[in-house]
Amino acid sequence: MNLTVFGIGYVGLVQAAVLAEVGHDVTCVDVDAEKVERLNQGIIPIYEPGLDGLVRENHAAGRIRFTTDAAAAVKHGRILMSAVGTPPGEDGSADLQYVLAVAEVIGREMEAPKIIVSKSTVPVGTCDRIKSKIAGILKERGREDLAFDVVSNPEFLKEGSAVADCMKPDRIIIGTGSEKTEKVMRELYAPFNRNHDRIIMMDVRSAEFTKYAANCMLATKISFMNEMSNLAERLDADIEAVRRGIGSDPRIGYDFIYPGLGYGGSCFPKDVRALIKTAEGVGFEPRVLKAVEERNDEQKSVLFEKINRYFNGDLKGRTFALWGLAFKPNTDDMREAPSRVLMEALWQAGALVQAFDPEAMQECQNIYGQRDDLLLCGTKEAALRGADALLIATEWKIFRAPSFEQMREALKAPLIFDGRNLYDPEVMARHGLEYHSIGRKAVASVLADPLAPKEQALV
Ligand code: UDX
Repeated sequence: MNLTVFGIGYVGLVQAAVLAEVGHDVTCVDVDAEKVERLNQGIIPIYEPGLDGLVRENHAAGRIRFTTDAAAAVKHGRILMSAVGTPPGEDGSADLQYVLAVAEVIGREMEAPKIIVSKSTVPVGTCDRIKSKIAGILKERGREDLAFDVVSNPEFLKEGSAVADCMKPDRIIIGTGSEKTEKVMRELYAPFNRNHDRIIMMDVRSAEFTKYAANCMLATKISFMNEMSNLAERLDADIEAVRRGIGSDPRIGYDFIYPGLGYGGSCFPKDVRALIKTAEGVGFEPRVLKAVEERNDEQKSVLFEKINRYFNGDLKGRTFALWGLAFKPNTDDMREAPSRVLMEALWQAGALVQAFDPEAMQECQNIYGQRDDLLLCGTKEAALRGADALLIATEWKIFRAPSFEQMREALKAPLIFDGRNLYDPEVMARHGLEYHSIGRKAVASVLADPLAPKEQALV
């Protein structure tokens, strides 16, 4: 099937590549000429496991192409998928300028019937706005004969596993009131809907709302768990034991109940804020959502507060090793990353940060540039050298089993503040490391003298 994808961002590029992989003929269009040029040379703008190969192979096979020519792109697709960004506006509500710009181009350029699919996370009612925008332009052009439908088909991919999520979606939400459109959409997604029916049909507005409700529900689980972790610390309980205890109830489940430094990324913070705005816009007070956001904002400072308390507010001139910059593992994305709040607070207090991340070093450089209080280190070991403590902000796999002996030797003091609960506190104590984590008691080293012989440390 001929398909056009507007917007070669995270969602657009991954979705386009996956649809090309199953045999659809995909044209991707973006206003960013440099990005288009680089993609045509096989340079992928984001780090996402499996995406490089997928784009290059399908590009070489002629099933996917990249262009800035919107008129040709509109002509190509029977389905026109819009995956442009919906950045937060000044007041936190979703800014729809790019979404409506795509609608305008489609209205101006279409010469045959089209199905317009809205992939972006957009406030309820946006598809109706797209519809009236296109209808208005067709009227101006005297082409009211051209039939079109606007479908809401939100994307649920997660960064870091985006290709796998798109290849094996757990649900395909399609919002349309038209049986004819439903048939075409079923055909589009048939390759992903083979073993059991993952397609859930509904009306347009419910589909738009489903995306927000899903993200806000997940954000709620995280904020709830973070609240419990703060409480656990004050009640001398262990949140990791509590997590296992409650996760075993299938009504709760083990997913998305990991306490940490708060959620970041391009979706949860933005979507929670946008839904708060939407609710207020219809005169409804979204008490739960507001609490979710507040807890998250506070959670991002939890590690800094522990550090500050430990050093009695005396952070000036101290050096901290920081493992993890990305908002979560397997991505180089630092949007709304807790690491940023932590680094900025440390800088504000006069401390120096020696950071390492397996993928986000360049991104960190792009955001903060050259500064005296930030040293980007080539390895996780290099970041430790001479630091007053190790701080962990992202749960990358390579941080899970480091050499604790080396760690103890490299750090100035054997001290760890872990915002992701990567290690067993008892094991840390046996290795002579003082360990502070989230929702668990701080555990002192069992070695009276941290510089005592290693045999004693390794049990
Ligand atoms: C999310 C949704 O999961 C996805 O369905 C939607 O399409 C886009 O938004 P993403 O932002 O890529 O995806 O990351 P996700 O894995 O959901 O994690 C979001 C944040 O929550 C991260 O900062 C992560 O560290 C945090 N998180 C997640 C927790 O703090 N605890 C958890 O238990 C799970």
